[in-house]
Amino acid sequence: MFIDTHCHVFSEYYDNIDEVVNQCKKNNVNRIIVNGCDINSNKEVLELVNKYDVIYGAIGFHPTELDDFKDEYFEFLENNISNPKIVAIGEIGLDYYYDNTDKDKQKEIFKRQLDIANKYNKPIIVHSRNSIQDTYNILKEYNLFGSIHCFSGSVEMAREFIKIGYKLGIGGIITYKNAKNIREVVKNIDLSHILLETDSPYLTPVPYRGKSNSPEYIPLIANTIADIKNISINDVSEVTTANAEEIFDFFSK
Ligand code: NI
Repeated sequence: MFIDTHCHVFSEYYDNIDEVVNQCKKNNVNRIIVNGCDINSNKEVLELVNKYDVIYGAIGFHPTELDDFKDEYFEFLENNISNPKIVAIGEIGLDYYYDNTDKDKQKEIFKRQLDIANKYNKPIIVHSRNSIQDTYNILKEYNLFGSIHCFSGSVEMAREFIKIGYKLGIGGIITYKNAKNIREVVKNIDLSHILLETDSPYLTPVPYRGKSNSPEYIPLIANTIADIKNISINDVSEVTTANAEEIFDFFSK
């Protein structure tokens, strides 16, 4: 069994979510964590987890989606975080890719969400783009755990995040020929620190690159990791599923 620990399977991107779920089951992808980014997608997460047994949710506010952010959204998180199928706060973090971004606002809202994760003892799913050092400095101040989604730092940075309680989300980029950096990370970091993810509909793995991504493609990512580490895809499946189960509580009722 495989788990997709990070994707955005929303009606905005998929005409037929029933079909996505069916394809996942066929490919042995039996749990997928759909991550909200703004108030509307977070509300859809709550609907999806009710409708589909294989779908679990993370709710949170993404650093590039904060223009219309309202203080009451923190209450929204607190009101829904105890839903047994909401397994994390995410997708949250820092994104300095765009020049006009308000870094202070991003940091403040990130920290407020970390406080909520701390209060309810929930794991977090972290987005970090052009901001890895600031992300690390903030997380180091907390005693939390979770996933550094779409990890793109160095082997040294990977080790630092692991030391403070995080696993590394590895997705479709690992299948790209020019992804030297992340291949080095996967080669040098023990499989016990790695989580599988697709970030669907983005970052589609080879050979479907250029098309829309789907959590059903998780085995392609697992296969590439198996090749790099010279182990079987079965080992990748077993260990990464156990890793995800160590972080996310899929069994609370
Ligand atoms: Ni994402």
